[in-house]
Amino acid sequence: MNSDVQHILDATNAHHELFKNSLPMIASENLTSPTVRRLLASDLGHRYAEGKVGHRYYQGCKYIDQIEAKAIELAKRLFDAEHVNVQPVSGVNANLAAFLALAAHEDLLMSLGVPDGGHISHAKYSAAGIRGLRITTHPFDEKKMNIDADLMVQKIFDVKPKVIMFGGSLFLFPHPVREARKAADEVGAKIIYDAAHVLGLIAGKQFQDPLREGADIVTCPTHKSFPGPQGALILCKSDVADAVDNAVFPGTTSNHHLHHKAGLAVTLAETLVFGEEYAKQMINNAQALAQALYDAGLDVLCKDNGFTQSHQVAADVSKCGGGAKVASNLEKANIIINKNLLPWDDVNNPGDPSGIRLGTQELTRLGMKEPEMREIAQFFKRIILEEEEPEKVKNDVMSIKKDYQKVHYCFDDGEGAYESPFRW
Ligand SMILES: Cc1ncc(COP(=O)(O)O)c(C=O)c1O
Repeated sequence: MNSDVQHILDATNAHHELFKNSLPMIASENLTSPTVRRLLASDLGHRYAEGKVGHRYYQGCKYIDQIEAKAIELAKRLFDAEHVNVQPVSGVNANLAAFLALAAHEDLLMSLGVPDGGHISHAKYSAAGIRGLRITTHPFDEKKMNIDADLMVQKIFDVKPKVIMFGGSLFLFPHPVREARKAADEVGAKIIYDAAHVLGLIAGKQFQDPLREGADIVTCPTHKSFPGPQGALILCKSDVADAVDNAVFPGTTSNHHLHHKAGLAVTLAETLVFGEEYAKQMINNAQALAQALYDAGLDVLCKDNGFTQSHQVAADVSKCGGGAKVASNLEKANIIINKNLLPWDDVNNPGDPSGIRLGTQELTRLGMKEPEMREIAQFFKRIILEEEEPEKVKNDVMSIKKDYQKVHYCFDDGEGAYESPFRW
């Protein structure tokens, strides 16, 4: 074997081994089902299909058309959407397309500030900045970790944005979309809802329903609480469908990663069957984890509001060395999380924020329930509060993880999560 190739194979095998023995708690990741993993290695990943179903610029798309048409049909059914475009290849790509569809250079976008949980693509650093939008942020209630609905409505009347954006990367409670709709109509604004983190919860009918509450466009990365392959789709109202389709192709994509779209279609079919049970358990697990961490002595945010209504939990660890140190110590014990900006942090210093963000979506997918969340909270206590050597805690982490190696809430429930579907 060529040594460079061997290097990559060895690193991939080591990565699999690491995750086999770890507790994956990064809120933006998930595990696809075994069927989806096999599709990700199919010939579809070698092909192009520019254009729409039945109207392609390339030959050879007969079966690709069947796959994309099925993905659209399933997404319409699951989300009760008037129009669906499954071609965006990522969340940032979908947001850029949505901005292209609804706004012009210099238009005003009202979105969540990054320290308040907004994603960089809603800000000057990424898609919104690339589109040349001016940006103003939602008034935010730091205690409730949510947009202040009354102040938001007032601000919509005052600044008259062209686009109002909801959704974020730290997303504990539903956003006031319904409250914004009336004001948006009065000032002629459109609403985009970025469902990245909460798509699996929306699919399982356990979170707000942004289309019914008044969003014109919902951008949907498909690989966070929704356990599909990395990529995205867009749901929208009929009156903006043509603008969205043109903004996606030719506006912001060419090849749309057809193997991922086959995997997306299968995940949509699995979610129609298992999505509700999965979403309920993700939230129950997040609430159990938050309560146990709080009882253990951690400064978990939003106790007065039940900590969370999503798959996420946030804690302020500034008194325990800060987010960077805590995340790094947890990693030494094979607990994989991320440090996170909180509203009181400086946006220009993202390297050492006061917070950590945890997600239960992947542990839930592996079959864990409330008792395991309480056990895991004890690992956090030992490392963060009792300052036990992380390497000592690691043995207990590996021991609990041993029994959770299979993917659940899918048709091939029970197959291994970490074995490669092909040999190398
Ligand atoms: C709210 C939100 N939108 C968009 C994205 C970007 O998605 P992607 O990484 O697929 O581009 C993220 C990523 O974490 C996110 O949290």
